[in-house]
Amino acid sequence: KHILLVNGPNLNMLGKREPAVYGHHTLADIEQNLAKQAASLGLSLESVQSNSEAELIERIHAAFQQVDFIIINPAAFTHQSVALRDAILAVDIPFIEVHISNVHKREAFRHHSYFSDVAQGVICGLGIAGYSYALQSAHEFLSKAE
Ligand code: DQA
Repeated sequence: KHILLVNGPNLNMLGKREPAVYGHHTLADIEQNLAKQAASLGLSLESVQSNSEAELIERIHAAFQQVDFIIINPAAFTHQSVALRDAILAVDIPFIEVHISNVHKREAFRHHSYFSDVAQGVICGLGIAGYSYALQSAHEFLSKAE
């Protein structure tokens, strides 16, 4: 089974970006940890990060019938992008939404997500461990689906 990890805008700045909110780990740390975990679960994992909405949409389109599960942190697009929501609905791939910070503790504009009502589940506020919990959960979901 093939998993796609999608990270949205500004997440390439993890480690440097607002460390009090997002911690000191880098995106490379997250991607490497998840690739190792995936391998140990017998899954293949591909990672993409982009600051461009169009690029993320196109990457999700390319996942059509190629990817079994998506783990996505849409970052600021969470609160903005109907187009990215529509892309993930179009390919009809189950997904988990992850946020490093607890968006509900933060500004009101972060409380609404264009993804949560169509996600398998949502993980937020647990730091980068959230990605790992999402992968574990994706593995369980895919094992049951078999
Ligand atoms: C984020 C939360 C979003 O509100 C923010 O725009 C991000 C990161 C998180 O992982 O906590 O860029 O998705």
